[in-house]
Amino acid sequence: MTQPIRVGLIGTGRIGQVHAASIAALPETTLQWVADPFIAGANAIAEQYGVANVTTDAAEVIAAEDVDAIIIASPTPTHVDLLGAALDAGVPALCEKPIDLDIARVDALREKAAASATPIALGFNRRFDTHFADLHRLVRDGAIGKVEQVTIISRDPAEPPVEYVKVSGGIFRDMTIHDFDMARFFVPEIVEVTARGFNQFSEGIREAGDFDAAVVTLRGAGGEVVTITNSRHSSYGYDQRLEVFGDAGMLQASNVGDSNVRLYTAETVEGQAPYQTFFLERYAAAYRNELSAFVAAIREGVQPSPGFEDGRAALVLADAAERSAREGVSVPVDLSA
Ligand SMILES: NC(=O)c1ccc[n+]([C@@H]2O[C@H](COP(=O)([O-])OP(=O)(O)OC[C@H]3O[C@@H](n4cnc5c(N)ncnc54)[C@H](O)[C@@H]3O)[C@@H](O)[C@H]2O)c1
Repeated sequence: MTQPIRVGLIGTGRIGQVHAASIAALPETTLQWVADPFIAGANAIAEQYGVANVTTDAAEVIAAEDVDAIIIASPTPTHVDLLGAALDAGVPALCEKPIDLDIARVDALREKAAASATPIALGFNRRFDTHFADLHRLVRDGAIGKVEQVTIISRDPAEPPVEYVKVSGGIFRDMTIHDFDMARFFVPEIVEVTARGFNQFSEGIREAGDFDAAVVTLRGAGGEVVTITNSRHSSYGYDQRLEVFGDAGMLQASNVGDSNVRLYTAETVEGQAPYQTFFLERYAAAYRNELSAFVAAIREGVQPSPGFEDGRAALVLADAAERSAREGVSVPVDLSA
C-alpha cells in the first residue's frame, strides 16, 4: 500500500485548524509536524491529532527528514519567505491565499518558482467546491457553448474586526482575491480591470481607509465579461453564487444550506434553513478536495492547479482593481508579462 504523505502544518490559527482536520480526514495524508510561534496553539493541535513533533520554528519543519509536504497557513506576510524555503529544500507546499500583499515580493520569487519542479499549490479552495467544480466541468464540456458572461456574487456574513481590516491589504486583496481566482477559473486571460469601491454601512471600515462593498468588471482576452459583486455583510448568511452565460445556454450554482427540506405554508413557500454561516462550513469539503488534489499532484510529479502563477495573477488583478477604484480608470493588465 502507498504510504500516506507526511504533512508539516505551519500555522495553527483559523485556517490551520481546518487543514489539520482535512489532513486527519484523508487516508492519503498524515499530520507529522506542527509549527507555530504561538506554542499553545501548536500544542493544542498536536494533542488533538496525536502528533509528536511540535516546534515554534517553521524552518525546522521544512528541514525535517520525515516531512513530505508542508501547508503554509501562517499570516500572509510570511508566505513568500516560507515558499522560498520550501523551494530551496524541494519540499512541496500548499500555500494559503493571498500569496503576499506586495507584488514586488512575489515577483522576486517568480523565477525560482517557475524553474523548480517542486509542486506549489495555492489555496484557492473555491475551485474545489463540488458545485463550482461541477459547473466548471459542464462549461469545459461545452454544455453552454462559448462563454460570454460570468457573474460572481460573494458576500461575507459580517465585517471583520477593524484591526484586521487595517492590515488586510484592502477588500480587493483580502476578499475579492478569491473571486479573481474564480473569474480566472473560467476566463484565465483577463486583459482589463474596472472596479468601484463603496462605503455603504461600516464607519470602522471607512475610517480604516477601505471599502465595505465593491463591484468589479473584468474583460477577458476572448471578449468575455466577468462581474464580481462583493459586500462585507449579508443579513442572511454567507452568500456565494455563480452564473456562467454562454451562447448556447446558462449555468447557475446557488447557495448551500444544511438541509434541502422546504417549508410550504399559507405565509411562506419554499422556506428553508438559513445558508451555511461562513467559509468554515460552506467550504469544509472544498478544503479536503484541495488537499486531495495537492497530494495527487505530488504523487504524479506535476505542478498543482491553481499554483504559484495563479496566486500571482490574482494579486495582479487585485492591485489593478485597487488602482481602478481609487483613480476612476479602467486598468489594462497582462498576466503573462
Ligand atoms: N482559503 C481560505 O478560505 C482562507 C481562510 C482564512 C484565512 N486564509 C489565509 O490563511 C492565512 C492565515 O489566516 P488565519 O485566519 O488562519 O490567521 P490566524 O491569525 O487565525 O492564524 C495564523 C497563525 O499563524 C501563526 N504564525 C505566525 N507566524 C508564524 C510563522 N512564522 N510560522 C508558523 N506560524 C506562524 C500565528 O501564531 C497564528 O496561530 C492568511 O494568509 C489568510 O489570508 C485563507
